[in-house]
Amino acid sequence: APQSPPVIRREDYLAPAWLVPQVSLDFRLGAEATHIVSRLSVTRNPAGNGTATLRLNGDQIAPLAVRVDGREANDWRLDGADLLVELTGEAHEIEIETSVNPAANSQLMGLYASNGMLCTQCEAEGFRRITFFPDRPDVLSTYSVRMSGDKAQFPILLANGNCTASGEGEDGTHWAEWHDPWPKPSYLFALVAGDLVANHATFTTMGGRKVDLNIWVRPGDENRTQHAMESLIASMKWDEETFGREYDLDLFNIVAVSDFNMGAMENKGLNVFSTRYVLADPETATDGDYDAVEGVIGHEYFHNWSGNRVTCRDWFQLSLKEGFTVLRDQLFSAAMGSEAVKRIEDVRVLRIAQFPEDSGPLAHPIRPDSFQEISNFYTATVYNKGAEVIRMMRTMAGPERFRRGTDLYFERHDGEAATCEDFVKAIEDGAGLDLGQFRLWYSQAGTPQVTATLSHEGTTATLALTQTVPATPGQSEKQPMPIPLRVALYDRDAGEHRGEQLVVLDKAADSFTFEGFAKPPVLSINRGFSAPVAIDFPRVDADLVFLAAHDDDPFARYEAMQGLVVQHLVAAVSGRLDDATRAEGRAAIGAAYAAVLAHPALDDLMRGELMILPAETYLAEQLAISDPGAIHAEREALKAWLGTELASELRALHDRALAVAYSRDAAARGARKIKTQALVLIAAGDPAEGARRAFAQYQAADNMTDRQGALMVLASLDAPEREQALADFHRRYAGNALVIDKWFSLQAGALGPRVLEQVKALAGHPDFTMTNPNRVRALYMAAAGNPRAFHAANGEGYRMIGDLIRRLDPINPQTAARFVPALGRWRRIEPVRAAMMREELERIAAMPSLSRDVREQVTKSLG
Ligand code: ARG
Ligand code: ZN
Repeated sequence: APQSPPVIRREDYLAPAWLVPQVSLDFRLGAEATHIVSRLSVTRNPAGNGTATLRLNGDQIAPLAVRVDGREANDWRLDGADLLVELTGEAHEIEIETSVNPAANSQLMGLYASNGMLCTQCEAEGFRRITFFPDRPDVLSTYSVRMSGDKAQFPILLANGNCTASGEGEDGTHWAEWHDPWPKPSYLFALVAGDLVANHATFTTMGGRKVDLNIWVRPGDENRTQHAMESLIASMKWDEETFGREYDLDLFNIVAVSDFNMGAMENKGLNVFSTRYVLADPETATDGDYDAVEGVIGHEYFHNWSGNRVTCRDWFQLSLKEGFTVLRDQLFSAAMGSEAVKRIEDVRVLRIAQFPEDSGPLAHPIRPDSFQEISNFYTATVYNKGAEVIRMMRTMAGPERFRRGTDLYFERHDGEAATCEDFVKAIEDGAGLDLGQFRLWYSQAGTPQVTATLSHEGTTATLALTQTVPATPGQSEKQPMPIPLRVALYDRDAGEHRGEQLVVLDKAADSFTFEGFAKPPVLSINRGFSAPVAIDFPRVDADLVFLAAHDDDPFARYEAMQGLVVQHLVAAVSGRLDDATRAEGRAAIGAAYAAVLAHPALDDLMRGELMILPAETYLAEQLAISDPGAIHAEREALKAWLGTELASELRALHDRALAVAYSRDAAARGARKIKTQALVLIAAGDPAEGARRAFAQYQAADNMTDRQGALMVLASLDAPEREQALADFHRRYAGNALVIDKWFSLQAGALGPRVLEQVKALAGHPDFTMTNPNRVRALYMAAAGNPRAFHAANGEGYRMIGDLIRRLDPINPQTAARFVPALGRWRRIEPVRAAMMREELERIAAMPSLSRDVREQVTKSLG
């Protein structure tokens, strides 16, 4: 078998031997050949180990010339892809020439071409694909950049910081010089050159600095940038008010590019975004897309402090910037819209994307101990669980003391490359918390399993809690962690509680007493999802129905609804329901749903949230071994039952929502949300009525939310309206890449019986391409997440994803590796499917050459 790539360990960290206080880069731009001259001022690091060898990382580049202190050097050699230079004194000038072919860079790391423009992506290790450099986040440099290129081909030339000079060259070329005064690691370097137009605005900071804001897009897209601009301005203001953080340059540029591996990138003063997180107008973007633009614009902007001013010492500390910045963007989005709905959405993402990581072969702590390829660690664990861990500190300290902690963190570590430990220490000191034991959240992987039992005697209620942190790969023994749980006990008759309390479970088992209850109270626990744990608290349906109707914490209310459905479906797929208990369970769910549909005090955004049934992946998490076919069948059966049982209420709701005119305010967005949620259930109960209503909604739609919602429902139906609407949608949006992505993913996510065939046919559609990650994800991520396609009983879905990984790996390994975890779930799937999934992983592992990205994920998944 091919050799496994080397393992890099956190404990092996060594400070750099040489520092690079200054860099100057000169780019002669060409789509097929860009020539780079790099000049580094290097100085010996007094805190380093004193070695004379300067290690400059490289990746698929060759040194065309190496000069030391102005002379052609011969004291250099290559060590694998790295360039090693032997130095004698304390300080030197190194000059290196390289050349790259951006048009041939299909990995989209380093300098690449996208839609005729040139752009860069350097995090985590892309800078070494441009020039030789100590490409590690603890080497901070001030950058001066000069670039020149054909003026017609690249009319706009951008880099980090401020433009200091520009001019015309010979033969139709022009040039620009940029200087970034803030020292930064190489992963924050960026350059963009192309035919771009800007939406321009200004923002005056709290300190009175006037900042020019530009959102750069391809000509023709500028009228879809207003929401992004408003989101940027709101982010800047919110970060001043909430975290006291002010912007620190006179210019802030955002560029939207069509080909991008992830969502966006926080390069200093020059954020680069995938177009899908910039462009939005009612005709082409759903309400969800608008929210995503706002969230990602905020996220990248907030990195200016949590990431750029204070960066990471090494990549094991990734959650230092990502977990904290996700928390910041979550709080921002909550402040801009509905806090309750935002919390529910964030928890849903955690449960669907992160819980399976924690319980699978790729489980890792939010601060990993080792990796082979860092790109594989841009995970829901590092990002979303990382945010939850910091949110727990905030919950324990309260927002004001937490703010004192973050102020201290920024003050202490401004200009530094810091560690997660530095962050925890600053919160500890600033907020006045003892986080000694809490640090286990950084080192232990796995979702803690908490059990709760409530007993009652006399007037005392006793809550007994236990916790276990499950074993994960490489971590068989775990210690109990502090788990902050917001709890409230409801008086059943009054329908009220007497104040919420925060209990911190920090032992394997503990109990808490509550006085003054004449009757057994109803427990509301982990309110607001105060801890990222799974709680096992079996309860009678009546208590869940009570909480769904009465809980004053909106998350807890949602949780009660979910709990009702989860308990029922888990019992159903486990074969524990007979006709009578099934009918009872459905009756309780039906009553709770009816109450949600009718409740006058609920806003529609929240109502729509409460109507969403638990995801199949989350249901699978509840079972040691699951049968995806059975989960799917039971969930669909419940949907159909609800659609039939509540048919008249759902139709009335759909009619009411259809009558609300389009606007971006919360009431109208809520109406759009319940409109499609109602349609989903109506179609499940009565497909013909569903098709009729969906087609009518599609035709009447004056916005993408309604149109996409209707098409999503139609796509799963075997109705003549299906083909008609899909064809209309494609015709209407031909040439609009982001909307054509939707057309692909709606079909690949559909639940019809022929979906696999359809996905295969779509892979041959002229609009499909393997070189654009958005398009690949639109088709294949939707298929991999579609239980009917991926888990098809004959194993064809697994084969399709395996084939994709093998074909995509040589083109774009980072994106290919993202498909491996779906197959990696095999241990938790019933044995017949599990064997086929494993076989597919083995087929990939047997490939003669594989990227480090895919190799690591496949090896770990096979275990
Ligand atoms: N730091 C970026 C963010 O969280 C994501 C990193 C992008 N990486 C990449 N390989 N494209 O916003
Ligand atoms: Zn980020």
